[in-house]
Amino acid sequence: MTVSDALKSRRSIRAFLPQEVDETTLKALLAAAAHAPSGGNLQPWEVAVVTGRAKLELDAKIAAVFAQGGKPVPEYAYYPRTWREPFKLRRLECGKQLYDALKIVRDDKAGQRAQWGANFRAFDAPVLLLFLVPGQMEKGAFVDMGIFLQSVMLAALDHGLSTCPQAAFTEYAALIKEHLGYPADHVLIAGMAVGYADLSAPVNQYRTPRAPVSSFTRFFGE
Ligand SMILES: Cc1cc2nc3c(=O)[nH]c(=O)nc-3n(C[C@H](O)[C@H](O)[C@H](O)COP(=O)(O)O)c2cc1C
Repeated sequence: MTVSDALKSRRSIRAFLPQEVDETTLKALLAAAAHAPSGGNLQPWEVAVVTGRAKLELDAKIAAVFAQGGKPVPEYAYYPRTWREPFKLRRLECGKQLYDALKIVRDDKAGQRAQWGANFRAFDAPVLLLFLVPGQMEKGAFVDMGIFLQSVMLAALDHGLSTCPQAAFTEYAALIKEHLGYPADHVLIAGMAVGYADLSAPVNQYRTPRAPVSSFTRFFGE
C-alpha cells in the first residue's frame, strides 16, 4: 500500500467485530506512530491503552454520568464557538450522513443521543486509546498530537485494524484522568476506537466527501 493509498483508504469506523487485538500488535503500531515528527522532538504524547475489564469499568463509569444528562464540560474547545460557513454546513452534512446510515431521523433526539452515547463505549471496539499531553504544554503539543493521531490511524491499517478518532472523550476528561490515575493537569486531547471493522454494519457503509484542493489552496509563484 502506498502512503497515498493509506491516506485515501483510512476512514472512521463505528462498528467493530468482537475479535480482540493482541498487545504485540498494539505495541507495534504505537512504535511505528512514534516516528511522527514533533517540534524540538519533544514527543509530547502519552497513550492509555484501555482494553478488557479496564475498558468495561471505564465504559460503565462514563455511562453512569452520561445517563444523568447534564452538560459535560470539555477540557478544551474543539469546535469554534461561533459557526460560519463552510464549516457549519460541513458539520451538518457530517451528522446527516451518520444519522442517515443509521436511519435515525431528524426529530429522533433519543436516537441521536444514543449514537452520541455509543462514543463512550468506543463503539464497542475492543480497544480504546486515550491520548494525553502533560499540562505545561502549549498549542504546539496539540499540533504534534494531531500528527501522532494520524500516524496511529495509518499504522493501524498495516495490521488490518480500523479506527475512529474521538474528541467526544474530552467531555469526560476529568473523570477519565482520575479513574486512570493521570495528573489532573494533563490534557486529554482525544480518544480512539481501535479494532477490526464490522464491514457489514450500516454505520460503516458511507464515505465522507472532501473539498477540492483549489478550495483551500493558493499558489504563490512568479
Ligand atoms: C480529532 C478528531 C476527533 C473526532 N471525534 C469524533 C467523535 O467524537 N465521534 C465520532 O463519531 N467521530 C469523530 N471524529 C471522526 C470525524 O467525524 C471524521 O473523521 C470525519 O467525518 C471524516 O470522516 P472519515 O474519518 O471517515 O474520513 C473525529 C475526527 C477527528 C480527526
